[in-house]
Amino acid sequence: MTNKTHSPTSNLRGHALLQDPRRNKGTAFTLEERERYGLEGLVPHAVETLDRQAERVMGHLAHKESDLERYIYLTGLLDRNETLFYRVVMADPKRFVPILYSPTVGEACLKFGHLYRRPEGLYISRDMKGRMAEILKNWPQKDVRFICITTGGRILGLGDLGANGMGIAIGKLQMYTACAGVPPEATLPVMFDIGTTQAALRADPLYLGTRQTPPTDRELDALMDEFVTAVQEVYPKCCIHFEDWKGTDAQRMLARYRSEILCYNDDIQGTASVALAGLMTALNTIKAPITKQRVLFFGAGSAAIGIADLLVHAMQAEGLSKKDAEKQISLFDIDGLVTSDRSALSKDARTYARDQEPVKDLTKVIDLLKPTILIGVSTQGGAFDQRVVEAMSALNDRPIIFALSNPTDKSECTAEQAYTWSKGKALFAAGAQFDDVVLDGKTYHPGQANNFYIFPAIGLATYAAMPTRLTNECFIVAAKASADQVSEASRASGMLFPSQSHILEVEVGTATRVAEFMFDTGLATAKRPPEIRPWIESLLYKAEY
Ligand code: NAI
Repeated sequence: MTNKTHSPTSNLRGHALLQDPRRNKGTAFTLEERERYGLEGLVPHAVETLDRQAERVMGHLAHKESDLERYIYLTGLLDRNETLFYRVVMADPKRFVPILYSPTVGEACLKFGHLYRRPEGLYISRDMKGRMAEILKNWPQKDVRFICITTGGRILGLGDLGANGMGIAIGKLQMYTACAGVPPEATLPVMFDIGTTQAALRADPLYLGTRQTPPTDRELDALMDEFVTAVQEVYPKCCIHFEDWKGTDAQRMLARYRSEILCYNDDIQGTASVALAGLMTALNTIKAPITKQRVLFFGAGSAAIGIADLLVHAMQAEGLSKKDAEKQISLFDIDGLVTSDRSALSKDARTYARDQEPVKDLTKVIDLLKPTILIGVSTQGGAFDQRVVEAMSALNDRPIIFALSNPTDKSECTAEQAYTWSKGKALFAAGAQFDDVVLDGKTYHPGQANNFYIFPAIGLATYAAMPTRLTNECFIVAAKASADQVSEASRASGMLFPSQSHILEVEVGTATRVAEFMFDTGLATAKRPPEIRPWIESLLYKAEY
């Protein structure tokens, strides 16, 4: 355990020490420390343990009336005492993840400029062009391993929030620590403040970003090139995590940098990996090989393409050719089945276009293509009606039905509908969190395809093994590791993801498998330890003084 107060890099004393959230212990400073650091009289008489302090925090939280108020309180706590913040959050991630991350963080981002208390992370704006390395050096930490960078161009389902999107970069990195024990000092949230398309935000007197409209793609690419080069210079071991950029920017940036530097995009790769994790668990449940699945996506946007592409890689890893794997996947969008005779089709969508007559009715497409898996990523709440679920159930003993659209009212069907209409046969997961369903005396636990099963573990593996790149295979290994951590008993009740109650253990399990893969394939630059899991465990952040 590192003693943060005695850290050789710190010579803080007195009031300044109490103001440093990383070193502050508040009432937990011992009498000896109080004397040594000039703290006598600056804190009350009682010397408390961390657990006693956490008890007080829980009391405060109990009096807050909404999750947004709890979010604001916890953010204030983090500003005062980082160790206490993580002690509380890591003691019950299942409770605190929805407060610090999705869905509450969306509400917090909407009001970011109004809720703002004190600066966190770095804000890079267009007027800093030519000086980005210099600006990065203003950050006090010298060994940053993760930058989560957003333009705020597409925050959750809320659209372009501009600089308000900083809340998501902060929240995402907190999950690295809270769920997977990545040390918080290794993380740096960055707002790439390029402006916003939203006139209402630009006109809000409390808006904190630049009041510009976003630049052209060319200008944005030049800015990003400079930023990426500056990161390589200032933080050579750093992984860049792209988060909630506008869809086309997100795809372009990933394509531009994924083979050049250590980076990934959670909306594209993390999402695909968590969906694949759910599918692999479902296939473990029914003991069916991935190579034999016919998959129909309802919705043909970025989420569908991201999942489809990773599925193809996963099928290839099990021996199918790319062409054969692609043939097992079909897309259905607002105009019906995506067929090759369509004139306006993106290159990505064309890969999965069928040589068929156009069909506009989903049930007819199900009868025609006989999918074993139906995945909703359409934003069309209620689109999987009784006919659709019954059609899937008539074709399959255990139909796999994922309704991934968010938030809850956009879900293509509810958990209750999926289980009721399939007479308990469906293997169901959703993007939203649904309550357990009791049907004919049996309790079903619907899975939530939440990215936090994947990205913190990818982060931990990256922190430990220091790979040169994050490849598609890393995300497939993470999905498999997640699936393998759902026990047979849990699968019997419909669970498709590991338990959220032991999330740190699950993330360490997944990170161990991913790190092992990085060592086996030569991606890792760290020295391979004799045993990976205990080594990873030894690197975990512990919320202790
Ligand atoms: P998008 O806007 O890129 O794509 C939406 C697609 O749905 C388009 O192809 C559109 O043609 C199709 N569509 C719209 N209305 C339709 C209709 N009536 N019938 C058939 N198709 C229709 O959106 P994106 O980014 O692909 O996200 C889709 C949904 O997936 C969102 O609700 C998002 O929240 C959810 N999602 C969930 C994730 C998770 O659970 N981890 C991760 C990523 C996305």
